Amino acid sequence: MSNASAARNTFAATTAEQRNRLRTLDLLLSRRSTGALAEPAPSGTELDLILEAGLRVPDHGRLRPWRFVLIRGEARTAFGECLAEAIKARDRAAPPALLDRYRAWAVRNPLLIAVGTRLRSGHPVPEIEQVLSAGAAAMNMLNAIHLLGYAGIWVTGANAYDARVNEALGFRAPSRLVGFLGVGTPINAPEPMLASQRPDQSAHVFEWSAPTA
Ligand SMILES: Cc1cc2nc3c(=O)[nH]c(=O)nc-3n(C[C@H](O)[C@H](O)[C@H](O)COP(=O)(O)O)c2cc1C
Repeated sequence: MSNASAARNTFAATTAEQRNRLRTLDLLLSRRSTGALAEPAPSGTELDLILEAGLRVPDHGRLRPWRFVLIRGEARTAFGECLAEAIKARDRAAPPALLDRYRAWAVRNPLLIAVGTRLRSGHPVPEIEQVLSAGAAAMNMLNAIHLLGYAGIWVTGANAYDARVNEALGFRAPSRLVGFLGVGTPINAPEPMLASQRPDQSAHVFEWSAPTA
């Protein structure tokens, strides 16, 4: 019996509270990324909950390095232009169709959350941990987005590493983006991720034991 099945059987025999927790975990395990998004995006209390989830992540040294920049409504057009300008600055020969693709991408997402870290160089907490904490924030928000019935995707690409784009969003080096979350309502309810489609534990999980002398 797999660990997951064993856990399921244990929960089935126990309290309603534990079964509720297991249902939540099942829901988390069914999350899928999708960039095919339509209105509405979460707003108001729902968006607050998503942002709260992003702020409830491990944070070595209580640095609170996370910064979330919401790009929505009309601002998306200007952000698309910012992406196009950055692409042109990187490559003067960039084809107009490529620039239009990014302009359209910015507007197509009902909500973009640019996730970054206000990174402190030279701090005893290593830089990678400050970046990882922002990554954890992105993941927690994706999970909250899913639990609330919305969908999203975490993307990066060259623009996320572009100084011009970073600065436009308030991330001056060493502070930096870790990516963009595209957020909205899935156009086609994504097929839930089945247990059989998930990575096999045997390829990723290993039991360590002390070397024999
Ligand atoms: C840091 C990071 C950057 C990513 N950047 C992109 C990207 O630029 N474009 C893309 O299509 N997927 C990107 N992905 C992958 C998607 O977010 C997603 O994980 C993938 O589509 C698999 O979907 P799943 O979450 O349903 O397994 C990135 C993932 C991570 C963690």
